[in-house]
Amino acid sequence: MRMVDMIQKKKHGEKLNKDEIDFIVRGYTNGEIPDYQMSAFLMAVCFQGMSKEETSNLTIAFVNSGDQVDLSKIKGIKVDKHSTGGVGDKISLIVIPLVASVGIPVAKMSGRGLGHTGGTIDKLEAIKGFKTELSGEEFITNVNEHKMAIVGQSENLTPADKKTYALRDVTATVDSIPLIASSIMSKKIASGADAIVLDVKVGSGAFMKSVEQAKELAKTMVDIGEALNRKTVAVITNMDQPLGHEVGNANEIREAIEVLSGKGSQDEATVALTIASYMTMLGGAFEDFNTAYSELSEIIKSGKAIEKLKEMIRIQGGDDTVVDNPSKLPNAKYHIEVKATESGYINAINAESIGISAMLLGAGRKTKSDVIDYAAGITINKKIGDKVDIDETLCILHTNLKENKQAELTAKGAFFISETKPEPVKHIYEIIA
Ligand code: URA
Repeated sequence: MRMVDMIQKKKHGEKLNKDEIDFIVRGYTNGEIPDYQMSAFLMAVCFQGMSKEETSNLTIAFVNSGDQVDLSKIKGIKVDKHSTGGVGDKISLIVIPLVASVGIPVAKMSGRGLGHTGGTIDKLEAIKGFKTELSGEEFITNVNEHKMAIVGQSENLTPADKKTYALRDVTATVDSIPLIASSIMSKKIASGADAIVLDVKVGSGAFMKSVEQAKELAKTMVDIGEALNRKTVAVITNMDQPLGHEVGNANEIREAIEVLSGKGSQDEATVALTIASYMTMLGGAFEDFNTAYSELSEIIKSGKAIEKLKEMIRIQGGDDTVVDNPSKLPNAKYHIEVKATESGYINAINAESIGISAMLLGAGRKTKSDVIDYAAGITINKKIGDKVDIDETLCILHTNLKENKQAELTAKGAFFISETKPEPVKHIYEIIA
């Protein structure tokens, strides 16, 4: 087989069989196929797409490129969730203790942030002492005894995806449905959970810009999950503005504490409760959505969920006193208010620009080797539909950097003000199961 023939076939929109896809993935992972040929192939996939069977074969080839986690020593149906990536997305921090509160085991593997999107592992490391690397034994013991554990992804999990994703990032080949679906689902399958809830983001801060595209991505991933015997549900959620009011690592921990204490913002709580409801239903705790949603809301009100968050921090070596005293989390030196230059209603907030501004303030990495400032971030004071007067604060930038003009301009440019009030924002668009 020759890679040039595979590129030619895909360029003409022909289907590749399992052996051909295995050849490409194996060859690229072990270095026999160079970056320039893989780039040409990925671009051909972006234009010509892939059939259901090709996407499924690509997913399996990614899974087989590395280790697979064996969670069989954990009792019960192990549930996992994954977000396609957003800004201010602290849903994992909320749903892990919430779902574990009803006794459903959550064995969570999470990533770090890159570019404008944040990562749960970075956020948790804003808590002093929190260990995001656990041995396989510690991970399994914690899930069995406490119903929850979270770790970063191990080095040899889907190495083919890791290498391909890095190439896609620099060759404008990220936003392809079969490529995103196989990348995400391969990691979830290799991580070993029995049931998966996917949070498919749509809007200005997401890879999918239209609900139609998001539905197609969701359907593709659910089909892959079902074909590989994983119960899979996708929830399509709004990413047309940052989720909640806080962006940045320590900031997002503070807001997750608020939601779990019953005091968080409406969008955040609605999305978290919806995702958690499907996780608990797949785990077998509840029969129907309405019961799950109201029982989980009660668990938050009762104080049980926030106690579970303390327990999660404690068992992973972190300082759990931050829950009662969030001011112990890292705080920035400078707080810059970004003001409105006209009056009206907030019509749109470009979530990607807010994510980029937060990254420029030190909350994220421009390159993989950058060191994160956990205190850096943005508080969003005005959200879509809010009335705003000239000179009122739109958002506050938190940073330890003296030079922050570019971040300020980027954040300011993210807000669009109109004379008329826009339609109310929908938090959840659709469920694909
Ligand atoms: N997240 C992933 O893990 N892979 C993609 O391709 C896009 C988002």
